[in-house]
Amino acid sequence: MRVGVIMGGISSEREISLKTGAEILKALDPAQYEAVPVVINKREELAEQTRGLDLALLALHGAFGEDGTVQAVLESLNIPYTGSGVLSSAICMDKDMSKRLLRAAGIPTADWLCWNHIDEFTPEAAEQLGYPVIVKPSSGGSSIGMAKVNGPGELRAAIMEAFRWDRSVMAERYVRGMEITCSILDGETLPIIGIVPRNAEWFDYDAKYTENGALEQVAVLPVELERKVRRIALDCYRTLKCSVYARVDMIVSDGVPFVLEVNTLPGMTSASLMPKSAKAAGMTFGGLLDAIIAASLK
Ligand code: DAL
Ligand code: MG
Repeated sequence: MRVGVIMGGISSEREISLKTGAEILKALDPAQYEAVPVVINKREELAEQTRGLDLALLALHGAFGEDGTVQAVLESLNIPYTGSGVLSSAICMDKDMSKRLLRAAGIPTADWLCWNHIDEFTPEAAEQLGYPVIVKPSSGGSSIGMAKVNGPGELRAAIMEAFRWDRSVMAERYVRGMEITCSILDGETLPIIGIVPRNAEWFDYDAKYTENGALEQVAVLPVELERKVRRIALDCYRTLKCSVYARVDMIVSDGVPFVLEVNTLPGMTSASLMPKSAKAAGMTFGGLLDAIIAASLK
């Protein structure tokens, strides 16, 4: 089977995608797959470079990759691809849209506000959330363009910075607690990983991608909380119509797991969480890729 590993891309997470793609290329079993690296530098390259593939294995992150647009192109070219479909990818990429749906489904997620243009922004509106707030581009990833804002004086600068990255910006109530993540593979949860950033107040870009930037290990949770986290992760997956795999990020505060977001193409670098979670379940990275490929072709 000729599998194209689609990587690079044009989003702010391009560098992470190149790492994800490189790791995937190393781990794909040559006895089963003819793996072809497909590095995308411009949108128009996608159609050309995916010609003749039996499967597009998406190692992209962010805009034009994780947001449904690449999936739509592949649908129109009739090339099977890994992961969630067009609608789910688009919804999960936009945290404002996904939080609206999660809230409607009764899934805990912190209060937030969203502005679709800098001119709509009024600092007074943010007062109702209470400080601190986390400001972020609505469709960002890897914590790029994000800031923790401790008081009204810092808000406008953070909002302006976030608008450099996206046309829509959110301020979300800061939830103090432990960050955890629960990956789902083909409708089943994998072991929950707890995250403790080492030299940062929260799980920012450096904590995510610097070697030893965060302590990430299987979370030992009280049985009831563990059950709740797994159930919420599955509820998110179903509510947002994900398929094949996803990673649900949460912060647990006073026993309540608040959902931060659902990643439909979670990082697969050597430092990434989903491969760690799969390993804890006894799967090699290659085995995880086999499972993703098999589920995507079902
Ligand atoms: N957005 C990054 C790649 C992640 O969620 O792992
Ligand atoms: Mg993300």
